[in-house]
This record gives sequence, C-alpha cells and structure tokens, in this order.
Amino acid sequence: MANEWEGRVALITGAAQGQGRASALALAREGCRIAALDVAKTLSYPGYNLGSPQALETLADECRRLGVECLPFAADVRDDAAVSATVNATVARFGRIDILFNNAGICAYGLAHELTEEAWDAMLDINLKGAWMVARRVMPHMMARKAGVILNNSSIAGLRGMARLSHYAASKWGLVGLTKSWALELAPYNIRVVSLHPTGVNTPMNDGLAALEGATPQEIAERSAGNLLPVPWIEAEDVAAAVVFLASDKARFITGSQFVVDAGLLTR
Ligand SMILES: NC(=O)c1ccc[n+]([C@@H]2O[C@H](COP(=O)([O-])OP(=O)(O)OC[C@H]3O[C@@H](n4cnc5c(N)ncnc54)[C@H](O)[C@@H]3O)[C@@H](O)[C@H]2O)c1
Repeated sequence: MANEWEGRVALITGAAQGQGRASALALAREGCRIAALDVAKTLSYPGYNLGSPQALETLADECRRLGVECLPFAADVRDDAAVSATVNATVARFGRIDILFNNAGICAYGLAHELTEEAWDAMLDINLKGAWMVARRVMPHMMARKAGVILNNSSIAGLRGMARLSHYAASKWGLVGLTKSWALELAPYNIRVVSLHPTGVNTPMNDGLAALEGATPQEIAERSAGNLLPVPWIEAEDVAAAVVFLASDKARFITGSQFVVDAGLLTR
C-alpha cells in the first residue's frame, strides 16, 4: 500500500522547541520532509527563553537520523522578507508544501488595565498576525496544487476567557476566526484548515512563564484550573499526535473546526 506521507512536506513555525519540535519529529517519523522555522532568539517580550539556532540544528540532525531532510530557518513570523525567503527556499528545495503548522507563539501574564502597548502588540503580532503572515505566502503554493492542510495552534484560551491573559486569549480566539474564514476561502482548492486547542502543555513556554512569575511549572499549569483527567499538563507529544492525525488523509473531511486536546478541561 502506498505511504500517504511519501514526498509530503510540512512547514512548521516555532519548531525549535516544545510542541513545534515534537510535531516536526512526529511528522518526520511518518516520512514527511520538514521545513523548520523559528525566531531562534530570545525576544525582549515575553523575556523567557525561546528557541535557539542550536535547537534548530539539533532538530534538523534528528530528522536526518530518521531518514528525512529538514531545512532549518531562523526567521521571525512578523518579518515578511524572512517568511517569504523561507517559503521560497522550501518550495525550491522540496517542490511543494502540503502541511503548514502555524504554531509559533508567546505567552505572558498581565491584567488588562496594566498591559503595555508593547505587550499587546507583540502578543497579537506574533500569535495572530504571524499566522496570517506565513499562511498568505504558503496558500498560493497549496492552491496551485489543489491540496493542503493548515493547522493553527490556538489554545483552550481560544475557547474561553482567562484572567491575566486577555491579550493572549484575544490572539487565540482570533485564530479561530482565521481558521473558519480560511476554511471557507480554501475549500474549493481542497485545502483544509483546523485549529488546535491544547490545555497546559509541558514545554519550555510553561517553564518560562514559571520563571517570570516566580512559580513552579506545576503551579502555572494548575492556574488554568481544571483538567478533568488527573494530570497537571499534557506533553508536547500529545499535541504532535493530534497534528499527525489532522494532517493525515484520515482527517480528510475535517475542516473549519476546532480540535480540542484538553484532558477534559473545557467540559467544566
Ligand atoms: N505550553 C502551553 O501550555 C500551551 C498550551 C496551549 C497552546 N499553546 C500554544 O502552542 C504553541 C507552541 O507553544 P509551546 O508550548 O511549544 O511554546 P515554546 O515556547 O516551548 O515554543 C514556541 C516556539 O515558538 C518560537 N517563536 C516565538 N516567537 C516567534 C516568532 N516571532 N517567530 C518565529 N518563532 C517564534 C519560539 O522560539 C519557540 O521555539 C504556541 O502558539 C502556544 O501559545 C501552548
């Protein structure tokens, strides 16, 4: 039987660590070729450790050991020149992009009346506008081939309110709007668009938030109060498994919808 992943190409943003890295490796294990984009440096906001060039190189090496090629790109999703160069280089090398995982994101706490404009703009520009900045450059390639899947990594904060995270929640609800609208625009081209909504995930983001807040990673996870299943958080690999499924042909009639991986949290 033909392997559906053979020849396929996934562009993953925020790929150097956390859920992006786990998803890149999970797709690579299926045989998918990878373009791994990450800002690969720490930004003044949110201030915790983001990806690094070394982390991107490590991912590329691990993919190669799995027998698939991985192109690492140090690029900020807010930078159109860098994003366009990434997309063009990926298509030049691999000939196509089948899967886009818009995953790059930041998080930080702040009461709405205390947030600075810098914080608001960084949050919305990276988490929401960044997804569009990348997708608009990838879409024409998918449309030309009449095939593709775009996955937007939102959050449980994209389906509920969260105190001290209004700017984060706004960016994540925004991704639902993008998902549904792009699904309408792209269905005639056989392109599916789905948003993912994980509960707290055990990643460097959670560690970074803990450091900023002077709390333990466990306390940060418990703030989102209340996974139904008895776990403080889920692992990046749990999200990666959902990414592989949603990107696969098994999910061929799933589009425009919200895929929740929340250990039951939103049931409360
Ligand atoms: N960790 C959680 O609890 C959690 C829960 C639900 C959703 N999410 C979302 O999942 C996504 C991945 O989060 P994670 O937990 O893996 O975080 P993470 O910090 O471990 O990884 C995020 C990656 O995105 C990259 N990145 C940040 N800003 C970027 C930019 N401007 N351009 C390019 N790359 C950039 C970082 O360098 C980093 O490698 C984010 O969108 C996040 O909001 C996280």
